[in-house]
Amino acid sequence: MPAAPLRETRIAHIGIAVDSLEAILPFYRDLLGMPEVPLGDSDGARITGLAAGDALVELLQPERADSPIGKFLAKRGPGIHHICFKVDDLDGTLARCLDAGHRLIDQVPRLGAEGKRIAFLHPASTAGVLIELTEY
Ligand code: CO
Repeated sequence: MPAAPLRETRIAHIGIAVDSLEAILPFYRDLLGMPEVPLGDSDGARITGLAAGDALVELLQPERADSPIGKFLAKRGPGIHHICFKVDDLDGTLARCLDAGHRLIDQVPRLGAEGKRIAFLHPASTAGVLIELTEY
């Protein structure tokens, strides 16, 4: 059995692919009252964060059609793109997922939009959901 994590796994953010940040931002910010959180661009997408307690909604608008979000929008249309969990031990969690047969998109963690290390798991081995892991 792996050692029990020191901190519980939580939702870090939910990534939503959108055609236009400007068009949907008033819904979350003004109607739902979620404060805007400045975030850098990442993976060819402009990102606007909105706080829901400890978690964020990240609105992802592609800057290029050939970016991951651009391809997702072309194929599936706007909608939930991925869910990000923050885990106590990112490297250990990735190693356990790999050992258990899950497909990793990122074999090695890289820097995400929030300035923390992240890694994606392939949806083929996670019930169709693109999962991003990050650390505290
Ligand atoms: Co993300």
